[in-house]
Amino acid sequence: MSESPRLEVHGLVRSFAGRRVVDDVSLQVPAGQVTCLLGPSGCGKSTTLRMIAGVETPEAGEIRADGRVLHGADGHVPPEGRGIGLMFQDFALFPHLDVARNVGFGLAGGRSEVAARVDEMLARVGMTRFAAKYPHELSGGEQQRVALARALAPRPRIMLMDEPFSGLDERLRDGIRDETLAVLKEAGAAVVLVTHEPAEAMRMADEIALMRDGRIVQRGAPYNIYNAPVDREAAAFFSDINVIRGTVRGALTETPFGQFLAPGVPDGTEVEIVIRPQHLRIDFDRQGRGPNPTAIEGTPARGVVERARFMGSVSLVEFRMEFDGSILKAEVPSVFLPRVGTPLWLMIRRDRCFVFPVRR
Ligand SMILES: Nc1ncnc2c1ncn2[C@@H]1O[C@H](COP(=O)(O)OP(=O)(O)O)[C@@H](O)[C@H]1O
Ligand SMILES: [Mg+2]
Repeated sequence: MSESPRLEVHGLVRSFAGRRVVDDVSLQVPAGQVTCLLGPSGCGKSTTLRMIAGVETPEAGEIRADGRVLHGADGHVPPEGRGIGLMFQDFALFPHLDVARNVGFGLAGGRSEVAARVDEMLARVGMTRFAAKYPHELSGGEQQRVALARALAPRPRIMLMDEPFSGLDERLRDGIRDETLAVLKEAGAAVVLVTHEPAEAMRMADEIALMRDGRIVQRGAPYNIYNAPVDREAAAFFSDINVIRGTVRGALTETPFGQFLAPGVPDGTEVEIVIRPQHLRIDFDRQGRGPNPTAIEGTPARGVVERARFMGSVSLVEFRMEFDGSILKAEVPSVFLPRVGTPLWLMIRRDRCFVFPVRR
């Protein structure tokens, strides 16, 4: 048998008022890894985290740390005995304690030992010179760093973080995310980070567990989840999407953009072809004709620019398609900002499309 993962959660269930808000959630997080629980508001992320922390009791399921049962048929360890560090959105520091005493609060050990650990943690988050300041004298980002130092000071084996960056100014967030990640990695704890922001999950996670209606619908590295979503909703959670419908005949779907492969899908099945806006390519109209079809990009289809917005690094262009009047969105390099009313040709990167049978 291989070594137990640092954190192992199996089959967690929790209901409120007869509704399952966490429904059979399982996770394994090795030491030194960050798993992001990602999903829309209300999907059960915080409830899952609270059960792991021990402040909410599961109806079913098991939680283990390094193989030891924290909750299950064989026992229940109270929150303070779990060796878990917590960081929540409203990570209130103690207002009447200075930074050093906030970080040292509740640390076991002798005076000099605690002082040494506080110094070490403050240095690690770059807050040494703020040791004697009080929380109200700090910016949001500085408070955040102190909270991180406080959570990690007792050397937790597991860190649970619930939307820890959402109270911060947008411009600060990326820097603080990166710093936090570096400190977490160095500390070597198993981390579960809850967020509803895909960009945050992709920046922080070794593994993303995508949640919907209390269930984990997909797990994997950010690259894999983004590039191989399990369904249309999973694709749409990470970016705007375009959807083209078609019907399968002989493992192929005929569309205005040419044929798309639908291997293993029975004849007559209605499918949705899902394309992210950055995987549409735009080409010029040459007196009513477009570029030649290619194997990679298929057949071009013509549309008229309905709206075009300059976003800095990219332009977002919406087209009214001639074949059915629908709107398709393309994200193109921002050197390109076509005028409304311009006819252009669109092509689709076939290797970047996802084909899903329509669910009834
Ligand atoms: N203590 C509670 N009592 C009743 N309903 C709750 C309680 N805690 C959470 N819920 C409900 O459970 C669902 C999941 O909540 P939560 O886990 O906080 O979601 P998330 O963190 O993903 O936004 C929501 O519909 C929420 O209203
Ligand atoms: Mg929540």
